[in-house]
Amino acid sequence: MRPTTGQYPATRFRRLRKSDGLRRLAQENTLSVNDLIWPLFVRDGVNMREPVASMSGVERLSVDLIVQAAEQAAALGIPAICLFPYTDPAKRTEDCAEAWSADNLANTAIRAIKAAVPDMMVMTDVALDPYNINGHDGLVRDGIILNDETIEALVKMSLAQAEAGADILGPSDMMDGRIGAMRQALEMSGYKDVAILSYAAKYASAFYGPFRDAVGAGSRLVGDKKTYQMNPANSDEAMRLIERDLTEGADMVMVKPGMPYLDICRRAKETFGAPTYAYQVSGEYAMIMAAAQNGWIDGDAAMLESLMAFRRAGCDGVLTYFAPRVAAMLQNQP
Ligand code: PBG
Repeated sequence: MRPTTGQYPATRFRRLRKSDGLRRLAQENTLSVNDLIWPLFVRDGVNMREPVASMSGVERLSVDLIVQAAEQAAALGIPAICLFPYTDPAKRTEDCAEAWSADNLANTAIRAIKAAVPDMMVMTDVALDPYNINGHDGLVRDGIILNDETIEALVKMSLAQAEAGADILGPSDMMDGRIGAMRQALEMSGYKDVAILSYAAKYASAFYGPFRDAVGAGSRLVGDKKTYQMNPANSDEAMRLIERDLTEGADMVMVKPGMPYLDICRRAKETFGAPTYAYQVSGEYAMIMAAAQNGWIDGDAAMLESLMAFRRAGCDGVLTYFAPRVAAMLQNQP
């Protein structure tokens, strides 16, 4: 539909901006707590919290404190949290076997959360980087990131997460064909109702730096991820990837990073109409936090504006480290 426009002075756009009430009436998009997924970093130990230096306000939490965070999320009305483990360096290996261990950090945290807060939706990360000695999302042989062998590992990882009680699996690895393989394995193993939120359009981005610190993969990463993550110059390819993942059995799709890729979000939603999410990644969060801490921008306002931008671009929801902060704000001003 083409928006209508008239001529000045019959048309004065400022009429509907005159007061708060009129601005609220004319507002096209809204941001609600229902749109939020909160990513959390898990570490070992008990009663341990450890700040992530490059992500002010974000901490790695031991499982008991992750359960408290899930309770906090529930109290704020946040529908889902997403877990990322910081794996003990001694458990990072070439074959990444810790990734599908039933008692690894992520699976232990899933069980603890589902026991304490059963209604909290728990999303996982399906990728090998927190378990890989070389920091890559896939198995590596002779410097090559292997596609098909990695899929087998990701399927084992997915089944272990489903068995632990995960509600949403989040493959973030960008191997070809993993959604179909995961979906088939879930169907055959009695996990028909486990959802897949595919990181379908994930770009090889400089904005993941702080996250790699948080999971301890940054310093280990050998080379870059350009042979599996997307070229930031591409847009048609994102549509083909999203279509492919939906066809293979993804229930929801993600564009990542978020703010530099709002055009991809808009195109994805318009083309497929599927549940579409953006990941406001660690570097985006870190930029807003750092500028706010320097007094260069208003942090709360920049947070709200950046999150509303995802809604305007057509996203159904956002993975954001701001989730508890924005949820608390929204609670106070419905
Ligand atoms: C890797 C993974 C990454 C993120 C989520 N899963 C980093 C990467 O691809 O190197 C990034 C999230 C963020 O930056 O907040 N499986």
